[in-house]
Amino acid sequence: MENHAFKLPEGFLLGTATASTQVEGSCTTTNWYDWYRRGHIKDHSSPDNADQHWRLWREDVDLMASMGIQAARIGIEWARVEPARGEFDEQAYERYRQELSYMREKGIMPLLTLWHFSNPMWFEEKGAFLQEDAREIFREYAEKTIEEVGDLAESWVTINEPNVYAFNGYFMGAWPPGRKSFSRTVKVLDALADCHITAYQLIHAKYPDAKVGFAQHVRVFEPLRPGNLWHKACCAAVQWLFQDGIQKVFCTGRKAWPYRSRSAEGTYYDYLGMNYYSRSVISGIHDGVMAGTAKNDLHWEIYPDGIRAVAEKFFGRYQKEIWITENGTCDNQDAFRSRYIYEHLRKLLEAKAEVARYYHWSLMDNWEWLEGESARFGLVHVDYGTQKRTLNKSGKLYAEIIARQGVSEEMYERYVRGEAYHVE
Ligand code: BGC
Repeated sequence: MENHAFKLPEGFLLGTATASTQVEGSCTTTNWYDWYRRGHIKDHSSPDNADQHWRLWREDVDLMASMGIQAARIGIEWARVEPARGEFDEQAYERYRQELSYMREKGIMPLLTLWHFSNPMWFEEKGAFLQEDAREIFREYAEKTIEEVGDLAESWVTINEPNVYAFNGYFMGAWPPGRKSFSRTVKVLDALADCHITAYQLIHAKYPDAKVGFAQHVRVFEPLRPGNLWHKACCAAVQWLFQDGIQKVFCTGRKAWPYRSRSAEGTYYDYLGMNYYSRSVISGIHDGVMAGTAKNDLHWEIYPDGIRAVAEKFFGRYQKEIWITENGTCDNQDAFRSRYIYEHLRKLLEAKAEVARYYHWSLMDNWEWLEGESARFGLVHVDYGTQKRTLNKSGKLYAEIIARQGVSEEMYERYVRGEAYHVE
């Protein structure tokens, strides 16, 4: 009989992740609010609502504590703390201090994200990361934030998914600012690499023991037909341009054509942060999905073995412990999330790599960028009208995995066995 039980290794941490813009609400001065105002969000929902976490933060930390969450990734909303260049809002920082202190009081270790796709409009309007002094502007924001709240962060993500931001916003044109230029995409990534490196150095100058990294969006890439030379060539190119080249310049400051940073070569990561969701099947310059496989509600392939594969690949290359800084799925009915969690955790623990942490995306349903409120990723269900939070079945499973430090055969029967993905 197949054995479904597994144990978490000693010291392995399970947490949750959110991003400021996706949960906080009450902020209308970001590029994403502007994108909403211009009619680009599929369900027309505004990030001004989201989870109202700006107001309900204490309740949300209590919820995490009740689930036994050990570590939580949260973000700072740049537009809120720096409403105009060089003018900082002390009250906004104070509010973040309260949340971070309360997390610590409840035994939850904070992983703090400095930047997660969201820019203040004053920065966006001048060209965001393409403007000449973008690096200096970001340095000012990072320096002030480290000074204001750095003592309360246990660890840091400097930049979230630079590849997703740059390719969606500057190559595909679907995200703000809606451009379609490869050379601009490269320039944005060069600037983000320097912003990451600067933040890494600033944090370490003040807190030498802090654990600092960035959260890279990693995928498994495969040619649609392995014997087809064109598919293979495109696959190698996409993998390099979207992922491996960017990883190199961020981690080391070294040139990785077409990317080049202005920073000195060095080692700019204390852990390898990876957001893993899916696999890409390549037959041209665009992303494809494998037919006849498990899919989530956004039609992304569910491919649990990929989390093992990326952990082994990047650990092999960069030799630092892996933190899964995001992994989760859009499952609007919470019909297969328990199976998803079970299979991904299990595969991750099989990896021949040092894997130390796993942050589930997401603690609760939240404002999912272009999809708005229509795509649910939460362990906790959120009613966007009343803001009522309800623990999903998957949230109960997650809490139980933490409490028992693993999954028993009986838990598998109760939570996982009856769940199935849809196949498309
Ligand atoms: C992002 C999150 C997003 C999640 C699900 C990641 O690309 O960092 O902000 O909500 O994936 O799409």
